[in-house]
Formats: sequence, structure tokens, C-alpha cells
Amino acid sequence: EKGGYEHFMLKEIHEQPNAISDTYRGRMLADKGIIRMAGVDDNMERIANAKRIIIVACGTSWHAGLVAEYIFEDIARIPVEVEYASEFRYRNPVITENDVVIAISQSGETADTMAAIKLAKEKGAFAFGVCNVVGSSISRETHAGAYTHAGPEIGVASTKAFTTQITVLTLMALKLGKFKGTISQSDFQFHLQEMERIPEKVKEALKSDKLIQEVAFKYKDAPNCLYLGRGYNFPVALEGALKLKEISYIHAEGYPAAEMKHGPIALIDEQMPVVVIATKKGHYEKVVSNIQEIKSRKGKIIAVVTKGDEEVRELADYVIEVPETIESLTPLLTTIPLQLLSYHIAVMLGKNVDQPRNLAKSVTVE
Ligand code: M6R
Repeated sequence: EKGGYEHFMLKEIHEQPNAISDTYRGRMLADKGIIRMAGVDDNMERIANAKRIIIVACGTSWHAGLVAEYIFEDIARIPVEVEYASEFRYRNPVITENDVVIAISQSGETADTMAAIKLAKEKGAFAFGVCNVVGSSISRETHAGAYTHAGPEIGVASTKAFTTQITVLTLMALKLGKFKGTISQSDFQFHLQEMERIPEKVKEALKSDKLIQEVAFKYKDAPNCLYLGRGYNFPVALEGALKLKEISYIHAEGYPAAEMKHGPIALIDEQMPVVVIATKKGHYEKVVSNIQEIKSRKGKIIAVVTKGDEEVRELADYVIEVPETIESLTPLLTTIPLQLLSYHIAVMLGKNVDQPRNLAKSVTVE
């Protein structure tokens, strides 16, 4: 059942090339420049004319929502708010009939996300679901939706659900952008072509496994770890930190790289591993100067970089390469080494990777 892998988590990490292509296959016709998504097509005016999109989710799905915020605003020019479902539902939020509320949930059963959707519907908003489990409560409660086709995710730590959520939300943003005219035809086409190349590039990213085991061995006994990223890769930093704390019980925090000097830099000393996502596209030079700041305080730098990078290699203790792609799709690649890093650390520490203590796969009580 684990397909020869030692744990479901590792199997699911390796399933991502297929899970991503299963999610766009049948929807995206790259050569024709078409994206078909029934749930969006049937409600195009309503969604494209939204004054605002509010994304509600928890945990890893909330991180996918943060990535989507960048994509929707960038490509479809619709203002987006991303909310923890548990906070949103209890704070008397301002919701109108002109809002579209998107719930992201692997299980489709998360109690807080479900309650947030019910509240949004009561206030007249249009509710759209991005779920993995077909026929789940949230998928039934929403007006329309688009499933991720990740297949069953058994490991408590969410991996392939995250990358397929980003895939679906990217397609949706592209579709809206095309309809609204906020993305040029050539840019649209280019995004589709790049999306089609992602599964191969994920496969390539997975090949860093041996190197990542080395990094894991080196830092497995660290009591703390910091994750930094900017722009599209800021949510990836949050997700990397969540993965590590969830399965290895090492305290980890994710931060937008530029926030470092507003507090977390005080934590940096020769004991502190800092994982920095420093891919070429998007604020590269600024992240490089953050890396210099960490280095001058003797922090240990594990950098995730674009293949062929030389500048960061000079500064970092370890460099993990991912293939190049367009900025908005980098999270689909930069996430991979961070998943593997947390996996290997947890295994080396002898933790129960697939069923970490105190956690459940779906949180059906608030
Ligand atoms: O099923 P959902 O996507 O609604 O679940 C949300 C969170 O409970 C979930 O992502 C959780 O944070 C994972 N264990 C993270 O790996």
C-alpha cells in the first residue's frame, strides 16, 4: 500500500509530479491556450466581477491560500484576503454579496473551514470549494468548486495536497485573468507551457534527496530552525516550518525574509540553521543581502536556489538547487526540498512520521 516506500509521506512526496499533472490534465489545453473548469465557467461573471476574494482555510491549506493571494492579485487583479477560518468566523467579518469566498481543504471536513463557508453563504457571498476528497462536506456545502486530483493523502503532514491546491488556484487565476483581460494572450500561453513543464521539474527537484539527507543529518539535533522567503516564496517558508515542527517536533518559524531585522535576527547565532529560499526570480538580490546578514552573525545557511546559481553558493553552508521556472510557479518546486528535509530529520530522530503525536488527519472539531 505504501508502494515500496517506507512511509506514506515519502510516497506522497514522490507522487507529486503525477498528482500535479492529474490536477491540470483535462482542464488545461496548453497548445490551444484553453483552460476548462466547469465550476468557474458556469459562474464566470459572478467570480470575475467579485469586488473581493476571501480565502478561508487552516494549516497547510491556508499556506496554499497565501500563495493564491499573490497569483490572483498579480494575474486577475482581484483584491484577495486570506483568513484563518477559525478567526474569520468569530470576528463578525464584513461580507457582502459581491464577495467570493474560496474554501481550501484537503479533507473537505475541517470544522472551522466548514463553519466559515456557512457564514459566508448566510451573508450572500458566493462560496467556492477547492477540496481533494470528492463528495466531502465542504465540497457539498459550496455553490461551485474545483477538485484537486491528488489522490488519497494518508500522511498527516500534507504534501501533495498543497502543490495540487496551488495548481488548481493558478489555473483559476489564469482563467479569470484571461476573461478580464488582465493578462496578455502571450503571457497566458507562456504560463500554460510552463505549467506543463512543472511535473518534470518536480522530478528533478526530487533528485536532491541524497544531499538533503546530508543536510538533515547535520542539523537534526538543532532545537530551533528559521525559514525565510519573500514574495511567492514567503508562504513556502511558512509551510517548510510547519512541516518541520509537525513531524520532527523541532521548533521552527517561517518569516518573510525582510522581517528578519524586525526581531528574529536576535535569535541568530552559530547554533541556528536558517533555511532561505533564494530563487533567481523575485527579490533575489534582497534575499542575498539577508543571507549576508545571517552569515555575519554566524548562522548556518541552507539555501534553496535556482539551478546554476553561484552567488549564494559562496555564502551558504548548503545549497539545494531547483530548476528554473516563472516566479508564480516557483512554490511548486521550492516546497519539494523542504518537504524532504523535514521528512528525513523526523525519520532520523525516530519520530512517527505518518502519525505525529497529538495530530489528526482531519480536524473535524473546532
Ligand atoms: O483538510 P484540510 O486541508 O482542511 O486540513 C487543514 C489542516 O488541518 C492541515 O493542512 C494541517 O495543517 C496539516 N497537518 C499540515 O500538514
